[in-house]
Amino acid sequence: MTILITGSAGFIGYHVTRKILNKNIKVIGIDNINNYYDINLKKNRIKDLKKNKKFFFYKVDLSNYKKLNNIVKNEKIKIIIHLAAQAGVRYSIKNPRTYFKSNLEGFFNVLEISRHNNIKHLIYASTSSVYGDSKKFPLSEINRTDNPLSFYAATKKSNEVMAHSYSYIYKLPCTGVRFFTVYGPFGRPDMALFKFTKNILNNQPIELYNKGNHFRDFTYVDDIVEGIYSLIKKQSKKSIPYEIFNIGNGTPKKLLDYLKHIENNLNKISKTKKLPLQVGDIVKTHSNINKLKKYTGYKPKTNIKIGISRFIEWYKDYYRRN
Ligand SMILES: NC(=O)c1ccc[n+]([C@@H]2O[C@H](COP(=O)([O-])OP(=O)(O)OC[C@H]3O[C@@H](n4cnc5c(N)ncnc54)[C@H](O)[C@@H]3O)[C@@H](O)[C@H]2O)c1
Repeated sequence: MTILITGSAGFIGYHVTRKILNKNIKVIGIDNINNYYDINLKKNRIKDLKKNKKFFFYKVDLSNYKKLNNIVKNEKIKIIIHLAAQAGVRYSIKNPRTYFKSNLEGFFNVLEISRHNNIKHLIYASTSSVYGDSKKFPLSEINRTDNPLSFYAATKKSNEVMAHSYSYIYKLPCTGVRFFTVYGPFGRPDMALFKFTKNILNNQPIELYNKGNHFRDFTYVDDIVEGIYSLIKKQSKKSIPYEIFNIGNGTPKKLLDYLKHIENNLNKISKTKKLPLQVGDIVKTHSNINKLKKYTGYKPKTNIKIGISRFIEWYKDYYRRN
C-alpha cells in the first residue's frame, strides 16, 4: 500500500506522514511549499521526513492536474489524505483568491484525479469553521453548516458538498474531517500558540482579539493524527460512501486560560494588546466527538498543559538550532 498525502510540508501533513511512515507504509508527499509562512519550517519538515526511506516528495501545486495525475497513476495510489490548502481565517479576508485557487480549484483536481484513478478512499481536511456562529453546543455533525462567516470556511464547506456529489455519482468513498484548532510541535507561525510563545520570549506584546474571551476546542496534533489514522481503512460502506467527522478534544478552553498555561510554562508574564472581535472570527468552538468515538474508538489523550509544554520544548530546541 502507498498513500498520497497532500500538504506533507505543512503542520498537520508532517505529523500524519510521520505516523504512517512509522507504520512502515510508503508515503508520497506533495506540497507547493508556498510562502504563506516561513518556508524554512516547511523545508525542515520535509528534510526530517526524508530520513525515512519510505518517504518520497514532489514539489507540485494542486493546480498542476497533469503532474499530480501522473504521480497518482505511476505510484499506483489507492488512498489519498488531502491536507494541502490555504489555511487561516484572518488571511482570507484580504486574500480570498488564494483560497479559491487552492481550496476550490485545487480540491476539484483532487476529486477528478480520485475518480480517474479509482481511489478507494479520499480523506480530506475540513474545519470547525464550517459551523459559523452556531450556538448548538457541543457542535455536532448534524448541525447546520450553511452560514460560514469567512471565505475560508465557505471553501471548506464547498469541499464537503463537492465531495458528496462525487461519492453519489462516481461512488468515490470520501471522508471529510473537521479539525478543531490544532496545536503542537512544528506548528504554524500564524496560530496563537506560536505567536504567543514567540512574542513572550521576545518581550513583544501579544494581540488578543475579542480581548481573549474566545473559547477554542484546542486539539493536540497527535490526537488529530490518531483520528485520521483510525479512519484510513474505514471508508463508508453506505450506498453513498460519504462521511463527515469532527476531530476535536471536546473540552473548550478560554483563550486567556490557554495564555496562562503558556506564561506558566515560560515562567514569564505577557504584555497584551486587547483588540475587538475580528470579522470572520467565531467566538466559541466545542466539538461533539461522539460520532468518531463510536465509529473508530477515537479518544483524545493530550490536555493543554501537556500539549503546550511539548510545543514550547520543541520551539526552544528548534530555534536554538535554526
Ligand atoms: N491547523 C488547524 O488548526 C486546522 C484547523 C482546521 C482545518 N485545518 C486544515 O487542515 C489542513 C492542514 O492545515 P495545517 O494547519 O497543516 O496548515 P499548513 O499551512 O501548515 O499546511 C498546508 C500545506 O499545504 C500546502 N499548500 C497550500 N496550497 C497548496 C497548493 N495549491 N498546492 C500544493 N500545496 C499547497 C502549503 O504549502 C502547506 O505546506 C488544511 O486543509 C487546513 O485548512 C487546519
